[in-house]
Amino acid sequence: MRVLVTGGSGRLGSSTAAVLAARGHETVSVDSRPGPAAPGVQQRTADLLDAGARGDLFRRTAPEAVVHLAGIAVPFAEPDDRTLTVNAALAWSVLSEAAAAGARCAVAASSPTVYGYNRPSWSPLWLPLDEAHPVAPWHAYGLSKAVVEETVRTLARSGGDCVLSAVRPGYVITPEEWAGALTQQGHTVRERLEDPSLAGASLFNYVDAEDAALLFALIVENPDRVRNGGVYNAVAPDPLWPGPVDALVADLHPGTAPSAGSLADGRGVFSSERARSELGWRPEGTWRSRLGTGG
Ligand SMILES: NC(=O)c1ccc[n+]([C@@H]2O[C@H](COP(=O)([O-])OP(=O)(O)OC[C@H]3O[C@@H](n4cnc5c(N)ncnc54)[C@H](O)[C@@H]3O)[C@@H](O)[C@H]2O)c1
Repeated sequence: MRVLVTGGSGRLGSSTAAVLAARGHETVSVDSRPGPAAPGVQQRTADLLDAGARGDLFRRTAPEAVVHLAGIAVPFAEPDDRTLTVNAALAWSVLSEAAAAGARCAVAASSPTVYGYNRPSWSPLWLPLDEAHPVAPWHAYGLSKAVVEETVRTLARSGGDCVLSAVRPGYVITPEEWAGALTQQGHTVRERLEDPSLAGASLFNYVDAEDAALLFALIVENPDRVRNGGVYNAVAPDPLWPGPVDALVADLHPGTAPSAGSLADGRGVFSSERARSELGWRPEGTWRSRLGTGG
């Protein structure tokens, strides 16, 4: 299948393009900056906010599936209005162009930040957080991802043949970061494992980049099994912490105290059960397996 990966030079995009190519797909990566060369991945450079460049890319590529990862990927990394407008505009223009170009499937990156954690009064209705839990973003990045999800639902409703969905990858850890490089917002994986205030800021959630890439691959390969307009959490099965996180989560995020007891058996704060049961996604890159430690 011919798959277009936007943001293919990025942390998640380079793993996703490599995994798709390794699974035999004709893979085209597009990004506004050049990326690392990966075997079997064709690289294109374009600003996807430029309508002319975007249209030209889709005409030349004629993708059968699109994995949309391009955007501003970190909360507060850019001025709020830019984060919101860039991510919202990219989602609408790339996903609607995918549908118009005849792609059978288009999937976009959302984020667990749509749940609105990391503010003092955050009180989830239940834990672990699954896709049925309401979203309540509180910053521009989280709002931009809620807009991505609403864009997916809006375009799914328009009745075309393209199956649209969104994935909420956990805190992505790349092969280089498992090997000791700094993670996206600083600190190594081992430092995060040693300091609950670092890992707990994102509720001890994480996902191996190649596992997240595998879920994108399963979605484009199985459009008939994908919920049109649906969303999938994509988080490792365990927390980024050596033991249960019930007490830590309740301590760091007091509003979770009534529901944190459900985590006492060692499960993560997020559930990816939907991706497992509906698409057969089984993440294997846990911190124990990647760091070669039993914890
Ligand atoms: N990294 C994480 O932990 C994480 C977690 C959840 C969701 N996400 C989402 O996954 C996606 C990828 O994240 P990442 O960590 O790989 O980010 P990244 O910053 O490494 O990659 C994003 C890429 O998008 C490209 N890009 C931005 N604007 C563009 C434009 N107008 N045209 C073409 N390319 C453009 C950038 O050049 C960059 O290479 C993002 O949408 C992000 O919000 C990431």
